[in-house]
Amino acid sequence: MDNSTITNKEKVLVTSALPYANGRIHLGHLSGAYLPADIYVRYKRLNGDDIIYICGSDEHGVPITITADNEKVSPKVIIDRYHELNRLAFEKFGMSFDIYSRTSLPVHHQTAQEFFKSYFNQGLLVEKKSLQFYDEKVKMFLPDRYVEGTCPRCGNEEARSDECEKCGSLYEPSELKNPKSKISGETPVLKETSHWYFPLGKFQERLEKYISEMSEKFGWKENVLQYCRGWFKEGLKDRAYTRDLDWGVKVPVDGAEGKVLYVWFEAVLGYISATKELSQKRNEPELWKKFWQMNDTKYVAFIGKDNIVFHTIIFPAMLMAWNDIQPDKYILPQNVPANEFLNFEGKKFSKSRGWGVDVLEFLDLFPPDPLRYTLAANLPENKDTDFYWKEFQSRNNGELADILGNFINRTFTFVFKHFEGKVPPLGKLDKIDEDMIKLIEEYPAKVGELIDRYKIKDAVFEMMNLARAGNKYFNDSEPWVSVKKDKVKCATALNICLNCIYTLAELFEPVIPFSSEKIFKMLNATKCNWSTSGSLNLKEGHLLGQSEILFTKIEDKVIDEQINKLGKPDGELKTVDEEITIDDFKKIKLRVAVIKNAEKVNKSEKLLKLKIDLGNEERQLVAGIAKSYEPENLIGKKVLVVANLKPAKLFGLDSQGMVLAVDTPEEGKVKLIEIDNSVSPGTLAK
Ligand code: MF3
Ligand code: ZN
Repeated sequence: MDNSTITNKEKVLVTSALPYANGRIHLGHLSGAYLPADIYVRYKRLNGDDIIYICGSDEHGVPITITADNEKVSPKVIIDRYHELNRLAFEKFGMSFDIYSRTSLPVHHQTAQEFFKSYFNQGLLVEKKSLQFYDEKVKMFLPDRYVEGTCPRCGNEEARSDECEKCGSLYEPSELKNPKSKISGETPVLKETSHWYFPLGKFQERLEKYISEMSEKFGWKENVLQYCRGWFKEGLKDRAYTRDLDWGVKVPVDGAEGKVLYVWFEAVLGYISATKELSQKRNEPELWKKFWQMNDTKYVAFIGKDNIVFHTIIFPAMLMAWNDIQPDKYILPQNVPANEFLNFEGKKFSKSRGWGVDVLEFLDLFPPDPLRYTLAANLPENKDTDFYWKEFQSRNNGELADILGNFINRTFTFVFKHFEGKVPPLGKLDKIDEDMIKLIEEYPAKVGELIDRYKIKDAVFEMMNLARAGNKYFNDSEPWVSVKKDKVKCATALNICLNCIYTLAELFEPVIPFSSEKIFKMLNATKCNWSTSGSLNLKEGHLLGQSEILFTKIEDKVIDEQINKLGKPDGELKTVDEEITIDDFKKIKLRVAVIKNAEKVNKSEKLLKLKIDLGNEERQLVAGIAKSYEPENLIGKKVLVVANLKPAKLFGLDSQGMVLAVDTPEEGKVKLIEIDNSVSPGTLAK
């Protein structure tokens, strides 16, 4: 056995996606790549692991230059503004980065150029001439997002020159339909230019092996693997490493004037340059190498789902290519626990429509911990989730205040009233005391194990469960009775409650660090190593500190005010929905039907088997509405069905058609579209 397994300490490098310094971060960003990482990092620190947490602003790329053009200022003005705003938002939210760097720093430009030169010198990059859009009016090439047009694959009208965000396909600019320059509004022409391409395809086999090995050993998330499989299946293609643009990292070879490195190729290297900056700041020149170039480092990259390909394919391929010829070898991500998206009150965040709330705005109104707790309890780990104001209120009032806060408050009040604010002695233990002590002892490992597996949402649920158990123990041991009859018994219960609070303060630290600090102050104690936080650390006679208010309840009217302030999310659909013609629509026969019978489908929680009457025929169909309706309540309802849908088999049952329903804010529940009684079955909707 080597030393590392004996000490059990890990050397961990954690990064969160570098946000564009082109807008304010909102709650969706926090849930995707930042809060889960911060919780993980804080836990690892408490565990005594050797860890650094790296982030910073991504300050190049076309969106920034477009914003700058629109405001008629230089890109520098934009990045300075948003770097500072986002740095501040993260700070107020309690993000514990070891550094929040910037890709406009010289150390980053040097690092990115070094990588490019290495590839260039090893003859890896392929120079190719290609046709790119060129705006003759302003005399410049129009990369990526400077051009908008119709996607050749799915018809999305807001596709970029070489990539469609809606269907995820990549294509040649010449394939884009109806291109328009975003600068002049003119139709651009295609003009020849030359770029250096990174031959991703050469790395496919090694990448597939890397991902399958890592995921086998370290349990990669299914959503991430699925995404990668899709890319591999299509086959990795050469990708242009350069762009015709002024703003960015200059291409460090002769004859490349007017060209910069493609933002994604240099942005991922920003993690390395940010670590170099941290090295300089800490005056530890070898620090960045210790993390990036020694293979006992565990590197975890936290991102949102739109960043997966860059972190599981492009970045690893770049590191492999470097490692192929350079003596100092980089490590690759050991895990990329990408999250899905957080939506806002049922719709995508949309700044232009005033739908959603950004972090600084939020933190002007409410303290950070209730937000951290609400987001953490509802992380989009496996599927998209939503932020609802009402849920925020109920998590704050019903969980933080009524469960955690209440347990702490009643314990403190009691100890101050009857035990002079000192930890009472532990007497003879009854079964319920022993059970509670056992629970407290088990919790750190239980919660820690979940966080180690990136199941942060589950971990947060468990944390609150310990507070629930604390309240129950307080109730069951009835100290208000024993204080009169059996003071030893009473003392024992309060000792255990206080020690449970200590454990809670430690376990909750990663999620609600500001409140955790207050609780430790109230306990007049400091945090310990995570592994020992469940071992009744407060001893008899220990003097407690002052009580503080931990969580304030949020009133209905405060929440209603926020809900009323929201913009209208409508119109949003227009931008995401693909257009169809009236003839397309006419192909779909929507008819009114009466539900004659409904019954549960064996072994399925979701499905109901329906008999419907379409006027002159009866049919069977299988509908995913079992979580929303009891079968007996459906009989007699008039609904709309897609009558000419190709028959299918679901759970072995024939289904001829589909009944129409709409989503509701409640997860998994739908509402049938019901038709007025005056309309007869069979009637066509048009
Ligand atoms: N700026 C990108 C975004 O917000 C993320 C960049 S992650 C990096 O989506 F690794 F490339 F830095
Ligand atoms: Zn498309």
